[in-house]
Amino acid sequence: MFFPARFSLYALFVLVSSALALTTASWSNKQVLVMYDSSLTSPENVPADLFKVNEDFKLSFVDYSDEEAQLFLGEDAIYHHLVFLPSTKRTAAATGIVDKFKLLDFFNKGGNIVAVSSSENSLPESVRLFLNEAGIYPAPKGFVVDDHFDTVSVGADSLLEPRILPDAEVDKYDGTAALVGNNAFTFPLVKAPKTSYTVNPKDASLTAEKTWTLGEQGFLAAAFQGLNSARLAWVGSEQLLTKELVKWTFQEKGVLKLQFVEHYRADEPGLSNRTQYRIKNDVVYTAGVSEWKDGKWVPYVPATEDDVLQLSFKMLDPYHRLNLTILGPGASEENGPNDLNIFYVNFTTPDHHGMFTFELDYKRPGLTFIEDRRVVSVRHLANDEYKRSWDIPNSWLYMTSFAAVVVAWFLFVMNFMYIGEKRPTSAEKETTEKK
Ligand SMILES: *[C@@H]1O[C@H](CO)[C@@H](O)[C@H](O)[C@H]1NC(C)=O
Ligand SMILES: *[C@@H]1O[C@H](CO)[C@@H](O)[C@H](O)[C@H]1NC(C)=O
Ligand SMILES: *[C@@H]1O[C@H](CO)[C@@H](O)[C@H](O)[C@H]1NC(C)=O
Repeated sequence: MFFPARFSLYALFVLVSSALALTTASWSNKQVLVMYDSSLTSPENVPADLFKVNEDFKLSFVDYSDEEAQLFLGEDAIYHHLVFLPSTKRTAAATGIVDKFKLLDFFNKGGNIVAVSSSENSLPESVRLFLNEAGIYPAPKGFVVDDHFDTVSVGADSLLEPRILPDAEVDKYDGTAALVGNNAFTFPLVKAPKTSYTVNPKDASLTAEKTWTLGEQGFLAAAFQGLNSARLAWVGSEQLLTKELVKWTFQEKGVLKLQFVEHYRADEPGLSNRTQYRIKNDVVYTAGVSEWKDGKWVPYVPATEDDVLQLSFKMLDPYHRLNLTILGPGASEENGPNDLNIFYVNFTTPDHHGMFTFELDYKRPGLTFIEDRRVVSVRHLANDEYKRSWDIPNSWLYMTSFAAVVVAWFLFVMNFMYIGEKRPTSAEKETTEKK
């Protein structure tokens, strides 16, 4: 009785320690999980170099019918990135991975997802439900994009978000389309041609109920970025699955990092991070921002005028909303390479005391979001900080009249006491009394 129990405890220990060793050893690599349908493709036929963005990426493959596969080990996700290839079945047996709530949890923890539809096969229902949460509504299984006037093609003029999908060239598009909600964080990438529509070719007649999209209502690819900057990309056909799109989704492109934020009084540049300012102080705000490019951090330069970083100095409402300008490159570490750009702005605190926030809120399509808030108090003038009365020109009139009264009073007293009719001496007084 005793022996087997101890044996199983030992076995558990070995299992746990080897699992820990596995996770720590592979943590430096980016784990990519590719979900595929074995009746359509095999791991050898999956374009591995598309998903293996660089040497740090490690690919794993799991069949949709694998009931054992898991997405999480305890609380932590085993993989950084997920890829869903088309499947013939609506429901997948691999419920340890293909489950709407698990996918939401994975995404909320910062995991990235690529989902690929095709003309004949769709994505499992759970993946479609997850896409719906992000405002992407792919057509059901079997729906294809068609056009009576022209072949459906994709060129430079149908691309909507060059920062996410910079180039895609398809002469004869064979795939499906999606409707996209108006969520501000959902980015349509490729629009369908004006005269196209999405139907199931098995339906003989074309009716409004049987079309999923009509004209430019449909999109052939769309992306979503959560507030935690986790990314999701959906494409209607693997023809649109480009290396750049995968790089964007797997956080190898368009990733920004706020390296530091400092604010100080213009006359006290050494004293950073103060928590209190006075009204009408000259304040300087600086922030260092890096961009991840080709495997390293480089100084970030906003590409267009609209990409300018802005600082709000707000108490409920912004009292200031100012554009930051580039001061120059800097290094995040002492003696390190220049890997960030320093942005700055200086302004005068408003004539209003209270709790204010320095707010940097930078959300641009295709870039990770930067948010930073620093709360400071702005106090009014102390008793000895008000201007002296003679500094105020308005008071000069009153000060002059005050001085005039002082001088006049002095002259009057002088006049009264020493000038004018002589007072009688005591001898004179006596003579007048005797009379
Ligand atoms: C300012 O505060 C930030 C975070 O609170 C800290 O990392 C930084 O070192 C501080 N800077 C100075 C100069 O104290
Ligand atoms: C900030 O930049 C934007 C875009 O270039 C411009 O429209 C706006 O007027 C600028 N704001 C200020 C306060 O200069
Ligand atoms: C910002 O600083 C520069 C140089 O220190 C100064 O010339 C300018 O007046 C300042 N601007 C504001 C709005 O305080």
